[in-house]
Parts: sequence; structure tokens; C-alpha cells
Amino acid sequence: MEEVQKKRILSGIQPSGDLTLGSYLGAIKNWSALADEYDCYYMLADMHTITVRQVPADLRRRTLTQLAAYIACGLDPEKNVLFIQSHVPAHAQLGWVLDCYTMFGELSRMTQFKDKSAKNADNINAGLFTYPALMAADILLYQADLVPVGEDQKQHVEICRDIANRFNGIYGEVFKMPEPYIPKMGARVMSLTSPENKMSKSDKDQNGCVYLLEKPEDIMRKFKKAVTDSEACVRFAPQEKPGVSNLMQIYAVCTGKGIAEIEREFDGRGYGDFKMAVGEAVVETLRPIREETERILADKAYLEGVYRAGAEHASYVANKTLRKVYKKVGFVER
Ligand code: TYM
Repeated sequence: MEEVQKKRILSGIQPSGDLTLGSYLGAIKNWSALADEYDCYYMLADMHTITVRQVPADLRRRTLTQLAAYIACGLDPEKNVLFIQSHVPAHAQLGWVLDCYTMFGELSRMTQFKDKSAKNADNINAGLFTYPALMAADILLYQADLVPVGEDQKQHVEICRDIANRFNGIYGEVFKMPEPYIPKMGARVMSLTSPENKMSKSDKDQNGCVYLLEKPEDIMRKFKKAVTDSEACVRFAPQEKPGVSNLMQIYAVCTGKGIAEIEREFDGRGYGDFKMAVGEAVVETLRPIREETERILADKAYLEGVYRAGAEHASYVANKTLRKVYKKVGFVER
């Protein structure tokens, strides 16, 4: 019997800060459910992080911690290819080629570029500008069908499609056209202190952000302080009540309850009760992940085995695409 080819998935997270509840609910949590149905590749996007200055020792520590956290969140390395981006040189190699097929105007319109250049006015480097071409290379090297990301990365998947279209238009069907794959709930987890902004691992306000490996008492303190409003009613209205609606979404994803059910559960009760319940749900969701991450992180030899095998597997697939691209653009074969 002919084997049916599984659809392929690629995604990644930058180890630019400690993982947050946003990266978990918006991304990793959804990834672990996909392993049986899809052929999955998840990378640690370390090359992207140096578009902003990093402390080298911290970047190394965070990369390994993030790998341990991927596994602790349920990404079994036997079923998913887990790898570090800088271990697969084809990313930089295809990134350069795609730089030459990406337009200045397109890159200038990217929201992330505008935000990050405003935040790092003294370091608006070329890498920050061409970041989307490297991200396109990440995706296209693996001929990915689907790219599971949170809402904020949708624009980057769209520009990736534009670049792939342009390249295929010139050279024929070289790249598979990827689709963004965005969760219905948790696609945009907002800051607890300024709910009009997304929860971000590079946020300077530590109180707005819950970290994946944070201690329960710190998590509870942050939820108790979370910004709400003066209506004293647990009701879902993201425009009017961004703080409460954000907490409701977090609670919904952590408990599996629906929005209407949550409104009924807290009908007539104050925000104090509600915030405690959300905090507890988050603590219980993250507790096993924290314990498991710490356990895995202590086993350096195991982690090394995982990222080495991941790099080998990923390189094999990526190099196949790269060879094809090099041939198409006219490079002489070695
Ligand atoms: P990054 O590292 O900023 O975020 C990683 C993933 O987490 C999601 N996410 C969120 N989802 C919901 N609410 C939030 N508050 C929140 N914060 C983060 C992001 O949408 C993302 O899915 N450029 C990418 C990394 C990358 C990549 C790739 C992703 C590099 N190459 C190729 C997919 C495919 C980034 O900076 O994500």
C-alpha cells in the first residue's frame, strides 16, 4: 500500500527572553497535539535573537532551557524534530538568497520592524530589517504546509508567502506555499498590567508578564495585581474590558471551559475571587511543566543528544531544498 505523506509543520520561538504564558498558550501548547497527524519541526530561533543585543551566556542558557521546556510541554523528541537554528547553516544560506528576492518596501511595512526599531533606536541594524526573509527561509527550507503561530506573527507568514510566490513565479514550483495556523483561543495573550499590549518576553514590566517557569507565589501575586476595570462584572468584551477579557481567555485555555460558562461561574462574584481562580488555574497548568523542565535541564547529555539528532535530521531536509534553490538561481554545483 502506498504510504500517505503527512503534511509538514514548522514553527519556532526566539530564545530572546524567558518563555511566557503567551508563548505557551499561543504556541507550544498547541504544538504537542499535532505530532501524530503531522510531520513536525520546531526550532529554537537563536539567529533571530541577535537582531537585538544579547548577553552571550544568557542566550546560551535560555536556548537550552527553552529546549528542555519544549520537551516538558509535551514535544516528544522521538516524534518531533527539535533543533537549534544556528546548527543548520542552510537557514543563513537560504536567508541570503531570499534577501535578494524581498523588496525594501515590503520590509518597511512590517509591524515588528517598526516596533522593534522604536524600542532599539540606537541599534536599527540590517538584520532587524531583513528578519522576515530569514524567517521565510526557516519555513520554506522545510516545504512546510502549516506554520502554527500566534496572531502577532501572521504578517511574517504572509510576507513569506509573497516571497515564495515571487520565487516560484520566476523559477517554477520550488517552494510549497505555507499557511498560518492560528489558535482560536490564546492567539493573543495580553499583558496583565497593560492589557492593550501583548504579553511579551522582552517586556521591561515584569508584572505584566507571567513566565513559564515562575514560582507559584509570584504567579499568584501578579494575578492579584492584574488590571481590570470598575464595572465589577466578569463579562467578555475585549474592546471595552480588555483586562477582564484577557483573564477570561487565559482561564478558558487553562481549564478548557467556554466563555459563557465562565460568565455564569462568576456571576455576582467580585474580581477578587475571579483573579484568584485564574491565578490558581495558571499555577496548576504550569506546575508540571516547571518541574519537568528542571528535571530535563539537569541531564545535559540527554539534551545534547536531542539537539544533535535534531540538527542532523533538519539539515538533511533543509539541504535538499537549498540545493534545488542554488541550482535554480544559477550557482555552479560543487
Ligand atoms: P516569538 O519568539 O516572539 O514568539 C513565539 C511564538 O509565541 C507566540 N506568542 C504569543 N501568542 C499569544 N500571545 C502572546 N502574548 C504571545 N507572545 C508570543 C508568537 O506568535 C509565536 O508563535 N519570528 C518568530 C520566531 C520565528 C518563527 C520562525 C516562527 C522565527 N522563525 C518560523 C514560525 C516560523 C517570533 O519572534 O516569535
